[in-house]
Amino acid sequence: MNMPARPPKLKVARTVADLRAAVAGWRTAGERVALVPTMGALHAGHLSLIEMGKGLADRTVATIFVNPAQFAPHEDFDAYPRGEDRDAALLADVGCDLLFAPNAREMYPEGFATTVSVATGVSEPLEGVSRPHFFGGVATVVAKLLIQAGPDVAIFGEKDYQQLLVIKRMARDLDLPVEIVGAPTTRESDGLALSSRNAYLTPEERAAARALPAAMRYAVAALREGGEVVAVEGVVMASLVGAGFGKIDYVEVRDGATLERLGPGPVSSGARVFVAAWMGGTRLIDNWAV
Ligand code: PAF
Repeated sequence: MNMPARPPKLKVARTVADLRAAVAGWRTAGERVALVPTMGALHAGHLSLIEMGKGLADRTVATIFVNPAQFAPHEDFDAYPRGEDRDAALLADVGCDLLFAPNAREMYPEGFATTVSVATGVSEPLEGVSRPHFFGGVATVVAKLLIQAGPDVAIFGEKDYQQLLVIKRMARDLDLPVEIVGAPTTRESDGLALSSRNAYLTPEERAAARALPAAMRYAVAALREGGEVVAVEGVVMASLVGAGFGKIDYVEVRDGATLERLGPGPVSSGARVFVAAWMGGTRLIDNWAV
């Protein structure tokens, strides 16, 4: 009987030394390397980043590290979904070459005392207001991962669009020799952006959450037709509240390059709609280009 072909087991590096040895071997062979940093609990969106990496480089390295530095004490660090075996099987299936999965001690050894802070207009609004600890933690861990792996290219999802801009600025300011590339958001059939945190939603909350992409679709169409920013933001907010979203952290139309606030009147070009809102105990974020 023919057995179904099983993908080869994924190689896993636990230490920076092992990661560097693998990458050095590929470099000696003249190969380009792509890095896809993640916090695990992988879904089709993450796997699309790996696919993109395979198109941009000869070798693709995924990282899984639930980074404590980007969670505030009251946030979901402990509850964040974890499942390395499942993640590793998914990565092997899509042809990822190596998983770097360090523990906290490897990333933040005893006495660790350095943080990277990106003090610019792109880190201040939106998530910078709602989660003031967040970008410092992200910039620090991503700087470390880029220095540890030394990839030619690193790929981040546009789902976390502001994070992508902050990382681009950090890499530029620190002269890190890497190209930072954004990848389009992967969505469910009703438009909800894939996120590891969607796993927290109850079936009822998941059904109600479809109001978020619906409101985004409305906002983009209304702004393209010349609608006023202040009015469109108001309609989006009201429709989210009407659909059962509780706290709305923000509904804001901003410039997609600088994140400067646009409005109150109509927008010309380059605008993006940003939303963060709570469905029950789950914080959902999304952004759509106008
Ligand atoms: O987007 C994420 O999953 C994380 O913020 C990242 C970039 C892997 C840093 O921990």
